[in-house]
Amino acid sequence: MMDIDVEEFDQVNYAHLRDANNLMDRIIDEKGYEFDTVMDIGCGSGRVTYLLDSRIHCHKIFALDIDLKSVKYATHRHASPRIQYSLQDISVPWAQLDPKIQQLEGKVDLIFSNRVLHWIENKQQAVANFYRLLKPGSGSLYANVTTLWDLFYDLPEEERKEYERMIYIPNEEEQVEQLHQLFEKSRFDSINIESTILRQHYPSEQFKSVILPYFPNLTKKYMVEKNGHKRNQIMASGLYEYIKNAFLRLYCREIFTTKNGQKSSEFELTYGQIRIVAQK
Ligand SMILES: C[S@@+](CC[C@H](N)C(=O)[O-])C[C@H]1O[C@@H](n2cnc3c(N)ncnc32)[C@H](O)[C@@H]1O
Repeated sequence: MMDIDVEEFDQVNYAHLRDANNLMDRIIDEKGYEFDTVMDIGCGSGRVTYLLDSRIHCHKIFALDIDLKSVKYATHRHASPRIQYSLQDISVPWAQLDPKIQQLEGKVDLIFSNRVLHWIENKQQAVANFYRLLKPGSGSLYANVTTLWDLFYDLPEEERKEYERMIYIPNEEEQVEQLHQLFEKSRFDSINIESTILRQHYPSEQFKSVILPYFPNLTKKYMVEKNGHKRNQIMASGLYEYIKNAFLRLYCREIFTTKNGQKSSEFELTYGQIRIVAQK
């Protein structure tokens, strides 16, 4: 789980909205505006699902999230007669999915997922579920995945090795290759995976209180230790602070601006994104 307050997050998800809009542009360019059954995997606050519903014409959007608070928030704040929000971990074995989701087997025209797959550890199972849900011959998947990069490259060798014993982050090429293999293994027919570098500016206070904690949480997914409790213990013993500072040092810049004579500052975050477009 992301360990982030959904309401707070909904106020600062500028980059999510921009990346989602870009993904929707690509869907519209390649597939048009008309879909019957759509799924939004990892819908979070529902803001992006609502946007999807307003940009494409569809009969039904099934929007899933593993986090109950997000599903409740989305149901309350971003409702539409076509959207059905449900609580669901998409990475469980097929037989454990909610029977209502299982009933969609082979019926889904479009799976959309914005900035979710990097949170999922059992990606192979999630991708296998996507495949079963999609309509044979025409079902498409469009996903944006946020990527983490090397957090230790400027450290002396010994220190670097010590951190790498705890956390393994594949490089960009390896991440693309791993995703390719996952989709191939699940028998997707055409698989297109691209990696890009993106930047986003955030007001400094919001950046420090909401966005920055996101990265140590995400880094947990790359820890060699798999036990959740032990991961938290290791993080609490100084790793959390190291990662926060490494992000600030390596991937953020504070930019000072003046508006109407008032001084203020923003943070520019540089992050990686992998886009997956796959057909069944
Ligand atoms: C960064 S948020 C993105 C939310 C939304 N797609 C957006 O673009 O604003 C990632 C979401 O994925 C959800 N998530 C993580 N793992 C999941 C899983 N295994 N199954 C379903 N949702 C998951 C999280 O709870 C979170 O709401």
